[in-house]
Order: sequence, then structure tokens, then C-alpha cells
Amino acid sequence: MLENDWWKQEALDIPRLITEIPGAKSLEMHARTTKYMKGLSSQVKLFPVCFDKGFGITLTDVDGNRYLDFSSGIYVTSLGHCHPKISEAISHWAKRLMNIHDFTTPVKEKLLEKLASILPGKLNAVQLYSDGTTAVEAAIRAARAISGKHEFISAYRDFHGKTMASVSCAQMYRGETHSYGPTRAPGFYVVPRPDPYRPVWTKASGTIDTDAYIKFYENFIKEGTVGNVAAFVMEPVQGWGGSIFPPDDFFPKLRKLCDKYNILLYDDEVLAGMGRTGEWLTLSHWDVTPDIVTFGKSFGNGFPVTAMVVKEENGEALEKISASSSYGGNPMACAAALASIEVIEEEGLLQNVRKVGDFFMRQMQRMKAEHPIIGDVKGKGFLLGIELVKDKATKEPFDEAGKLVYQKAFRKGLAWIPAGHILRMSPPLIMDEKYAGIGLDMIESSIAEVEKEFGY
Ligand SMILES: Cc1ncc(COP(=O)(O)O)c(C=O)c1O
Repeated sequence: MLENDWWKQEALDIPRLITEIPGAKSLEMHARTTKYMKGLSSQVKLFPVCFDKGFGITLTDVDGNRYLDFSSGIYVTSLGHCHPKISEAISHWAKRLMNIHDFTTPVKEKLLEKLASILPGKLNAVQLYSDGTTAVEAAIRAARAISGKHEFISAYRDFHGKTMASVSCAQMYRGETHSYGPTRAPGFYVVPRPDPYRPVWTKASGTIDTDAYIKFYENFIKEGTVGNVAAFVMEPVQGWGGSIFPPDDFFPKLRKLCDKYNILLYDDEVLAGMGRTGEWLTLSHWDVTPDIVTFGKSFGNGFPVTAMVVKEENGEALEKISASSSYGGNPMACAAALASIEVIEEEGLLQNVRKVGDFFMRQMQRMKAEHPIIGDVKGKGFLLGIELVKDKATKEPFDEAGKLVYQKAFRKGLAWIPAGHILRMSPPLIMDEKYAGIGLDMIESSIAEVEKEFGY
């Protein structure tokens, strides 16, 4: 018996809109905030709502309007806003012991045992941090400590965070946002990675040619590096890049290449891990075990807690890189992460994600067949994307449509976070088909309106 209906009462009448949105209070508070707060995301600028409350799959703004949540914050509150078990676990430690450096605490000990029990392949040597990018930095240090090598290969359009090593593993200029250049740090390289919808290399049949990518990487290792590659740094699926999943044979082949050249495979699951695609590790969909993995976002369901994990056999190397940080592994953080893993198990959420994820994909496939501006639909589980194009033949990205669909669906009561022409969706993993359908309807009718406005 699944205990996952704690949120349903509050969701009964969503969307519930009682004012024009954004409402007057939202607009006033946003104006006051932006007097001081600079550099907000394009999503906020395009739809300046001021939120006051979140519960389960709903969000309520300061004007009293209630929205359906299709973003989980930003892939963070995956088990629903303010899950009672998780909030209770955090508040227990908030009243008992908030910080004790990296000393052992009962709740840390339990979390580490639990984490080791759910991960494959003896991934059980752990360090805890408080945001994704510091876990990524630790993974880079760990890769150097384990391998004794110093170069890293990542991929076009990957995203790993905003500190120096993580930014060096990513695309450095994104639409309106510059990174922390002038350029990536020495020894960090990026290569194309396979996007089945926009392949760089194809077979004679026109389908993507994974072997050509792997061949390019092999050549690059020999010709483009100084022969000191510590690790491939890869998102299992490009989340920020638009929910772009690689072909099924990509990671198994990359794993083999890594083994051939004694290179570590570092799998950054900060966004995709902890159940979002229906597995603890998205890489498990392809039966691949990484050497290093990082978790964040969903890991504490909103409480800042992240983890960097390596295989037991490499655990000793972590002794060379200190785990000490101001907030990493504090009791509240450990309680949030432990309770989150327990909730996923107790509420059968991996199964729910697979089941409702199939429903999402079936609906999205139908939408693609019926709408001239939907070029591609992609995803697994609750990590989803709809790619808008001006023309299905040329695949020209349709950014203007992306913005309009975003605003129109928000105005109908959908709180979500698309980026540019790819409509990204990351609903809470507790969602059932009923609400998945309500959200998709708001998106589909917005797409239809935009098509009409552009004369399709
Ligand atoms: C794959 C991946 N790695 C790392 C990060 C950085 O996480 P944070 O924003 O918590 O520093 C992100 C953030 O979106 C991410 O998607």
C-alpha cells in the first residue's frame, strides 16, 4: 500500500486562479525585490510571481492563486513541497543539533548506510557538501587523487555548476548569460555528445552514429590531450541543455573506452539522480556503473545537501582530499537526505515515476504528431522536454514560441521552468496521471494558441 496521497486534499481544485496573474501583490513585491536583487533568471523576468507557499504538487502566490507545479523548484523539491516526513526530520535536528563540523552524528551514520545500500557497484565512499557545484569540485579533486592525472573531458551543452572547475566542464556562454571566463581552465576540454535529434555524425541510414562519437573521443584522447586524462565528466542526460538523452548505446560504449584508457567515468547526477528518471542513478538505465557520482537537488528535497561518492576500492584516495566544509553533512542536511531516500522507498516513487513517465511520453508523442511546431519530444520518467521548431524539416529552434508558451501556460496556472525553445518539465515524483494530464493540457492549449498567432 503506497502512502503517497498526503498532498491530494490541497490539490483538489488546482489550478485555482482568483486574480489576474501575476497579481497586484506579486508585482509590487517583485518590483521591491528587484530594486536590490540582480541577475534573476529569464523565467522570473518573464513571469514575476511572488510565491508564498508550497504543498505537495501545488504552489500558492501572495495573491492567493494556486498553481500546479511542473518544475519542483528547479528539479529540487522532487518529493513534493514540504513533505511532512522530511520537514519533520529537518525540524527535529533544527531543535537538537544544527552543526558539529564533520564529526559523526547518529543521523549521518544512518544516511551513509542507507545511501550505500541503494547504490550499485560498491559506490560507498562518500563526502557530503551543501550545493551541487561544490560536490562537482570535490569530484574533480577526487578524480585527480584517484588517478594521479589531471585532464578532464566533458561535453558541449553539459552543465555542472558555477564554480571554476565545474564551469570549465560546461558550455561557457548560454543565451544571455556569460560564465566566469575569460576561458575554461587549462586541461579541461569539451567534445560533442550525441543528441539523437540533432546529431553531428550519422550512419548512412540517417540515424545517429554513436561509434563515430566514440571514435572521435579516442582520437581526441591521443591527439588533443597530453595523455593525462583523469576522467570523462558527463551528465547522464543533459538537464539544463533541454532534457537531452543520449542513444542507449552511448554510455556502455563510453564505459568501455574509459576502461581501455584507464580513465575514470564521472557521472554528475546532481539533476537527474535520486529517482527523477525512475532509477536511483539514471546511468543504471543503461547498466553502466560510474567510478564517481554526485547527487544534489532532489537529494534533500529542498534542504541544501549534496554528495560525492566513489567506489569502495578508491575510498582511500578520498583521505587525500579533506571532506571538511562549513555546512557539509550537518545533522539537518543528513536528516533531509535520509528522509528523502526513505520516502522514495516507502511511497514506491521509482515505480510511480516509471508508470506516470510512460503516460507523459505517450501524450507527448501524440502532441508531436498533431502540432506543427513540436519538432521532438524527449525524456524518461519525470525528466521531460518538448522541442519547438519553426519547421520540422529544417529544425530551426523557435525561441519566440518557447517564451510565449511559457507565459501562456503559466497564466493558466502552471508553475514551470522551460528554457528557450525546449520546454523542460520536471514535475514532483509524487504526481499521478490525473495531474500530469492537467499540466500537459495547459501546455498543449498554449502551444495551439501560439501556433494560431504565428499563422500555422
Ligand atoms: C548536472 C548539474 N550539476 C551541477 C549543478 C550545480 O548545482 P548547484 O546549482 O546546486 O550548485 C547543476 C545545477 O543545475 C546541474 O544541473
